[in-house]
Amino acid sequence: MKPPKPTPRPDQVSLWRYLKLFRKDLLSAQPQRLYHAWMAEFRTPFFRSYMINQPELVDTVLKQRPEDFPKSGRISEGLRPLLGDSVFLTNGDTWKRQRRIIDPAFEGGRLKDTFPAMLEAAQACVTRLRGQEGQEIECEELTSHAAADVIFRTLFSVPIEHEVAAQVFEKFRAYQRQQPLLNLAAFIPVPRWVPRLHAHNTRRNARDIRDLIKRLTAERAELIDAGKAPDDLATKIMTTPDPETRHCFDTQEMVDQVAIFFLAGHETSASALAWTLYLMALYPEWQEKLSVEAEALDDPSFGAMSKLKLSRDVFREALRLYPPVPMMVREATCTEHFRGRDAPKGSQIVISPWHLHRHERLWERPDEFDPQRWSTKNGKTCQRKAYIPFSTGPRVCTGAGFAMVEGPLLLSMLLRKFRFELVEGRTPVPVAHLTVRSKDGIWLRVFER
Ligand code: HEM
Repeated sequence: MKPPKPTPRPDQVSLWRYLKLFRKDLLSAQPQRLYHAWMAEFRTPFFRSYMINQPELVDTVLKQRPEDFPKSGRISEGLRPLLGDSVFLTNGDTWKRQRRIIDPAFEGGRLKDTFPAMLEAAQACVTRLRGQEGQEIECEELTSHAAADVIFRTLFSVPIEHEVAAQVFEKFRAYQRQQPLLNLAAFIPVPRWVPRLHAHNTRRNARDIRDLIKRLTAERAELIDAGKAPDDLATKIMTTPDPETRHCFDTQEMVDQVAIFFLAGHETSASALAWTLYLMALYPEWQEKLSVEAEALDDPSFGAMSKLKLSRDVFREALRLYPPVPMMVREATCTEHFRGRDAPKGSQIVISPWHLHRHERLWERPDEFDPQRWSTKNGKTCQRKAYIPFSTGPRVCTGAGFAMVEGPLLLSMLLRKFRFELVEGRTPVPVAHLTVRSKDGIWLRVFER
């Protein structure tokens, strides 16, 4: 049985129908041919966009000439009320300065310091799942909670049960429910003269979230001043001056960054983990292998993580089949000549990990789940050329190393204690909202081992 894949739309549809499909879901709105094409052009009366699916073109845009393809201002619109000038949205010098301050907190060496907080979150997740023997549970709920817990513990040394953390988590969920058209806005840019109206509720919610985050950062600033701050990610980021200007983030800018760490860090990991659990139920032989391997965590430590090789291969394969960020958009700042076609200045350039990861001309058996592919010749080549769950180039995800510890750790901690089984009639259908989610949740039955 192959892992679920959305049914693509017919190759030819009217613009009106395309817009309607888009509104419903980004993935099923795309035609089958994108799994085979190197590039596709979408021409409408208002805009042109180009999906590039050829590894060399993706390399040009993300790695060779990223400054010529900044983040599209149009995607930022929907996120701005919440994220302000966060590193996810900025471009140019502001973005460079922000990365200079943030990157040291996430570099490889620091992960060891972050690990104990991640482990506590994993243990809390195991505890929360106890006592539900044989019950159907919704995995996105479970993993969202766990991933949010990881972020709060690693960033601010507080668990998700902390009063402010719990409120931020709840309000983010509401925000995401109100902003389902985020992707629509990115791909189908309305002309620039149309005023941008954020629904009143969305704006109020964004303001509430930012006020809560402001409280956390203000409290932390006081602890830093008093020399009593814990050595976590927030302290590291707030006390790291930019090596060039010598300035640290001011409060406003720190709030922007915390908002994006929370959003980018928990939605994505939660989506990846939920799909991985589903794949484990679909392929019980792999689930058993991982649960045996997970005994390495009987005495959990950062060092033990290097023993979770299968868990990492499985998580990597889940990120291939269900990349949490299914598509990214950039804007061409000058006319580009791609594969014999001119993409005029201002065109939206769409890079689709979703399609690249399942490209029929690149991957062997692209739609099959095979964690062993990473040690084959084709798997290794594709990992280098056609595998970008965390993007690539200078704008690569700051949390990539973090996520590759968090994912296998949570997965192994869960499989060490629990077994997950499919629930008949509940095959999840992937849809893309902010991240790749399942249309009606991911339901599995849980048993204690
Ligand atoms: C499985 C988990 C994750 C996946 C698949 C993922 C994926 C991505 C992708 C694809 C981008 C690039 C988006 C674009 O260019 O449009 C990105 C950016 C980013 N991610 Fe992640 N991410 C994950 C976890 C995390 C975590 C745990 C954090 C932080 C704690 C994080 C923080 C960020 C930030 C700050 C950016 C913006 C970087 C920039 O634009 O310079 N992510 N992520």
